[in-house]
Amino acid sequence: MGKSWAYLCSRDEASDAYAKLKNEGNLNLNFKPMPYEDGIAIPIMNGNIELEFEEILRSDPHIRLKKLLNNPPKKWEIIGDLVIFPQDSFSESETRNWEQIASALGCNRVAIQAEIEPGIMRESRLKLVYGIDGWVVHRENFVEYEFDATKVMFSSGNITERRRMGGLNMSNEVVIDAYSGIGYYTIPMIKSAGAKHVHACEINPNSVEALNKGLRRNDLTNQCTIHEGDNRKTMKNLYGIADRVILGLIPSSQPTWGLAIKCIKPEGGIIHIHMNVHENEIEEWVSKTKDWFSIASGRDTSVLNLEKVKWYCPHIRHVVLDLKLEAVN
Ligand SMILES: C[S@@+](CC[C@H](N)C(=O)[O-])C[C@H]1O[C@@H](n2cnc3c(N)ncnc32)[C@H](O)[C@@H]1O
Repeated sequence: MGKSWAYLCSRDEASDAYAKLKNEGNLNLNFKPMPYEDGIAIPIMNGNIELEFEEILRSDPHIRLKKLLNNPPKKWEIIGDLVIFPQDSFSESETRNWEQIASALGCNRVAIQAEIEPGIMRESRLKLVYGIDGWVVHRENFVEYEFDATKVMFSSGNITERRRMGGLNMSNEVVIDAYSGIGYYTIPMIKSAGAKHVHACEINPNSVEALNKGLRRNDLTNQCTIHEGDNRKTMKNLYGIADRVILGLIPSSQPTWGLAIKCIKPEGGIIHIHMNVHENEIEEWVSKTKDWFSIASGRDTSVLNLEKVKWYCPHIRHVVLDLKLEAVN
């Protein structure tokens, strides 16, 4: 709430009066008009009646939070209508009204971040502190992902790689997404890159549920086959069928390098290898990895691209190496 000069009029006159005051440049746009006695009070810049009005929250979100908390967090992430604050954003002693905090940031739910589960499924441990469930819809690069943010992780930092995958030309390609998760790459590869069919391998049932929902939401169900379970087993059913294989697991996707080679068509194809690499060792890693694939596949192998996706932690980069494997001789 805050004070402003007010123009008082009847309800019937309100919309004409509002338009006139706006034309004159006399509206006080920081506040909302409100019912007052039998009529309406319109906030204006100059007048002779002063009233308390509700503020329009057009200010900096940090300022809005500051009005609610003594020591407000400086960072947060918004996915759909869920605002996620980093761990330790709030002191135990401070009283919090989650509904107001959510609303100050244009959201309906609040969660607190926690370390991703360190196992292979990289499960989210997000704690929902306001709201009924963690299911969110995230729109990005013209696709929609649907997932329970309290159960599966979503890495905002990989947005450039999701966009890159969606921007490649995959028309008529059969693709294997060996660590598909909720469809981070599967969905843009079908919807934007034009892949004919994606075989999505995923071990985590929560991610499989999310992928199914995401495929339905984007109307792509017929162009994807989900292979639930450990890809070291499921990829064995996919030998010789792929134009492209995505190995999207960090810190390393090495356990499936040999399987990926076997999945590539005899005519040749592309493998995208994700890896965390020390900034000083990237060149050496690229050269060694290319040589490894060349020897293991017995095919001519060349480097198409080395993508630096993001800093994983100080000095360690998440990179993606695109290798082209030529036809079997
Ligand atoms: C970190 S997520 C994928 C992240 C995504 N590629 C990205 O870059 O944003 C890795 C996914 O691989 C799945 N995964 C890990 N090991 C697997 C395995 N052996 N077989 C199938 N899926 C596996 C995990 O459950 C998880 O959903």
